[in-house]
Amino acid sequence: MPYPAERPRRLRSTAAVRSLVAEHRLAPERLVLPLFVKEGLREPAPVSSMPGVVQHTPSSLVDAVGEAVDAGVGGVMLFGVPAERDAVGSCGTDPDGVLNAALRSVTAAVGDRTVVMADLCLDEFTDHGHCGVLDERGRVDNDATLERYAAMALAQADAGAHLLGLSGMMDGQVGAVRTALEDAGRSDVLLLAYAAKYASAFYGPFRDAVDSALQGDRRTYQQDPANAVEALREVRLDVAEGADVVMVKPALPYLDVLSAVAAEVDVPVWAYQVSGEYAMVEAAAAAGMIDRRAAVLETLLSVHRAGAGAVLTYWAVEAARLLRAG
Ligand code: PBG
Repeated sequence: MPYPAERPRRLRSTAAVRSLVAEHRLAPERLVLPLFVKEGLREPAPVSSMPGVVQHTPSSLVDAVGEAVDAGVGGVMLFGVPAERDAVGSCGTDPDGVLNAALRSVTAAVGDRTVVMADLCLDEFTDHGHCGVLDERGRVDNDATLERYAAMALAQADAGAHLLGLSGMMDGQVGAVRTALEDAGRSDVLLLAYAAKYASAFYGPFRDAVDSALQGDRRTYQQDPANAVEALREVRLDVAEGADVVMVKPALPYLDVLSAVAAEVDVPVWAYQVSGEYAMVEAAAAAGMIDRRAAVLETLLSVHRAGAGAVLTYWAVEAARLLRAG
């Protein structure tokens, strides 16, 4: 055999050849846009740690969803920021609460033209900022929280949400919500389990976006970044409890977990490219240290290649437009 015996570079020789043999390709409909809506705002308010991201007013939210649909994204995930918070997160179950009201106006505006998703968690609505309710000793009370999640699920389904994103990491949350929906005759509602959600430093900017009240951390319910096998257990339980889709979050620091999960299950697997991942690239680009567009598309492609069928990303609209423009 002459040396080199094989010449893999032939497959990289022109853009046309590269495109013909590409194993993975991003598409606008694989991107989901997270959006924030804040009660009592008069104008959209920029989130300082996430350049380009705003907290929406109820009406600017509807416009932003319309824009996302026009750009061809696959769905939108809504987060609500209430004016008032309490120990049990009452706003989350109030039919007129900021998130439920937003779900009503968004679904009235876009119908089934996109997938309207709701964050189902208490942290935006509690005055202590935890994802669940607390017991008398101040610990997150798993089973009391499940009752709140079940009530929230019915309120969100009633408000028109197509898919509920269970992001609280309570044990049994998918089963509790699935049972409540079935009992209410709402077997049509999709459940996305944030099955493997890690206690991550990369959520920092999000907590600005939702004016988070959290003191301390979420390490008694979110996963330890040291563990990967544990993610498979979480995913197995969520699928058994009735999850339609499972998710790994954050994305880029957990590509190993994502690929292991994708190899394990027969339901769609998604990933959440979180606020800190976004902020990191934006900051490096603003400092002139990185080619912003190329880095955005490369991170998204990497997450897709590792096994995510869809990716939640704050760049969804911009990336969808870049992909359409080729
Ligand atoms: C909890 C929730 C969080 C995020 C999405 N849902 C924050 C947390 O767990 O502290 C983070 C998303 C991001 O950082 O972009 N409801």
